[in-house]
Amino acid sequence: MEISAGTVDDVGALESLWLAMVEHHRDVVGGQWPVRGRAESWAMCRKDYLKWLDEGSGFLFVARPADGGEPVGYAFCQVQPAGPTFDLGESYGEVHSLVVSEEARGSGVGSALLEACKQELRSRGTTYWTIGVVEANHDAVRLYERLGFGSWTRHLLARVDD
Ligand SMILES: CC(C)(COP(=O)(O)OP(=O)(O)OC[C@H]1O[C@@H](n2cnc3c(N)ncnc32)[C@H](O)[C@@H]1OP(=O)(O)O)[C@@H](O)C(=O)NCCC(=O)NCCS
Repeated sequence: MEISAGTVDDVGALESLWLAMVEHHRDVVGGQWPVRGRAESWAMCRKDYLKWLDEGSGFLFVARPADGGEPVGYAFCQVQPAGPTFDLGESYGEVHSLVVSEEARGSGVGSALLEACKQELRSRGTTYWTIGVVEANHDAVRLYERLGFGSWTRHLLARVDD
């Protein structure tokens, strides 16, 4: 497996992995929260990735088999300005997306992608990084906790019309 930095030219090849993550979220929330349709979701995501890569506010690592071929996983990380409460320095990293194809899960690709993001953030002078995870995504939470992430803020969601 090879992990390399991705550019705007790699974004098109991420569609099926992104959609696998959307479907994973559809499964784990079990209808409790609405999840966008596939075409709409990818169109929005693609637009964001291209914008963030273009303006340099995000970076991408892609995992491919050593002999080339289609990506089997990727991580997209953003660099966000830090707020006034927590002293995280000027900016902190946020892992916006992380996904590995179903067949390749459990063999270290996700951990290797996160490690690449961590090294890139360090080289940019960032001290902290965060990753948002749906509460019901227990497998992913286990991985993040093992890598040293601890609970920080908690996002609660509700409707305003009931
Ligand atoms: C979460 C994910 C990126 C981890 O990548 P990975 O390559 O499977 O991870 P690694 O092999 O480096 O580490 C394995 C750990 O990942 C976690 N994991 C999450 N889902 C898993 C799966 N379906 N199969 C195996 N491991 C999984 C477990 O904590 C596992 O550790 P364990 O041995 O204690 O069970 C990947 O499983 C995935 O794409 N899941 C679906 C999408 C998703 O949930 N993305 C995260 C959104 S916040």
